[in-house]
Amino acid sequence: MVRMRSNVEAMEAYVPGEQPAAGVKIIKLNTNENPYPPSARVAEAVRAELGDSGDRLRLYSDPKALALRQAAAEVFKFPIERILHGNGSDELLAMLFRAFVAEGETIAFPYPTYVLYETLAHAQGAKIGSVDFDRDFNLPKELFGTDARLTLLAAPNSPSGTVYKPEQLRELAASLTNGILVIDEAYAEFAESNNLELARELDNVVVMRTFSKSHSLAGMRLGILFGSAHVVDGLAKVKDSYNLDRLAIAAGAASLRDTAWTAQNVARVKTTRARLDTGLKALGLQTIPSSSNFIFARMQNADIAAGAYRFLKERGILIRYFPARLLDDGLRITVGTDTEIDALLAALTEYLAKKG
Ligand SMILES: Cc1ncc(COP(=O)(O)O)c(C=O)c1O
Repeated sequence: MVRMRSNVEAMEAYVPGEQPAAGVKIIKLNTNENPYPPSARVAEAVRAELGDSGDRLRLYSDPKALALRQAAAEVFKFPIERILHGNGSDELLAMLFRAFVAEGETIAFPYPTYVLYETLAHAQGAKIGSVDFDRDFNLPKELFGTDARLTLLAAPNSPSGTVYKPEQLRELAASLTNGILVIDEAYAEFAESNNLELARELDNVVVMRTFSKSHSLAGMRLGILFGSAHVVDGLAKVKDSYNLDRLAIAAGAASLRDTAWTAQNVARVKTTRARLDTGLKALGLQTIPSSSNFIFARMQNADIAAGAYRFLKERGILIRYFPARLLDDGLRITVGTDTEIDALLAALTEYLAKKG
C-alpha cells in the first residue's frame, strides 16, 4: 500500500457531528446550528448573483472576496486590509497551521475544547501542548509564557460554553514568547463580551468569527479573521485562491449588513437557552452557565449520559455526546426552537423516569 506522511497515517480523522440525510425528520441539536432561517436578504443576494441563467458561475469568484470584506469592515469598523475570509472558520484554522507551524513545532490549547485543533496539529506534525481545564473551565496558568507557535482558545469554549475575561487574554497574549494567540469566537454573538479589541490592538492576536451560528449560514461555509496586516497578508499566501464561491460571498455580505435580523435571532436563542437551562436543572442535570448557543449538562455518570444520548436518538432527537475524558458524563445540547427544546425535555424526563 502507498504510504502517506507518517503523522497522517497515524492520526485519527476529525469526526463531525452527524448530518442526517436530507428529508429525514429529526430534531437536530448536535452541531450548534441556528434553528431560525438566515436573513431574507441572503436569498435575495444569492438569487441576484445567480441571475436567470446562472451565467456568472462560468467565471471564477473574487479571490479577495472584496464585497464580503467591505461589509465586514463597515459592520465591525475594522480596516479591510486586516480582514481575511475563509471557507468557514475551519479553513482559517487550517491556514493558520500552514502559515505558522513547522513540523515538530508546538501548539497549545486547553482541554476539552474544539477537537479540530488537535486534528490539524496532527496533520501538520506539530507537538501538542494541551492543558486540562479545572472543573470551572478557568484559563489554565500553564498556557502563559510558552513558546507555542499557536495558542488556540475557543471563546466561548466548546463544549463548555464558558468565556474568559478579556483582561486575562490580554495578559496571555503579552506573555507568549514565540507565537500568536488565536481567539476562535465562533459563538461570540451569544456572549456578553468579546475580544475583537485585542485583535485591533495587538499584533500577536487574531480573532475569528463564523457565519455558521449567529448568521444561520452553516451550509454556506463562511468565516472571517481579524488580525494584523502582516498576519493577514501571510495567511492569504497559503489560502486557496478562490476559497469562497460567488454565492457565498454575496450571501455573507448581505447577512453581515442585516444586523437587526442577526440580533433578533440571537436574542431568541438566548431566551430559549435560559428555558433549557432551567428545564435541565429541574431534571437534576448539572448545567454549566453558557455564553453560547448550546448547553453542556452533566449527568450522574457516563453510563447514564451515554444512555440518554441513545434514548434521545431513538426518539428522533440528536444531541452531541463525547465519549472522551472529562466529557463522557455530559450531553452537549444545541439551543433549538422552544418547541424542539420542549420535546427534548419531555424525552429526557421519560428517560430519567425509566431509569428510576
Ligand atoms: C469553536 C468552533 N470553532 C469553529 C467551528 C467551525 O466553524 P465553521 O462552520 O465556520 O467552520 C466550530 C463549529 O462547531 C466551533 O465549535
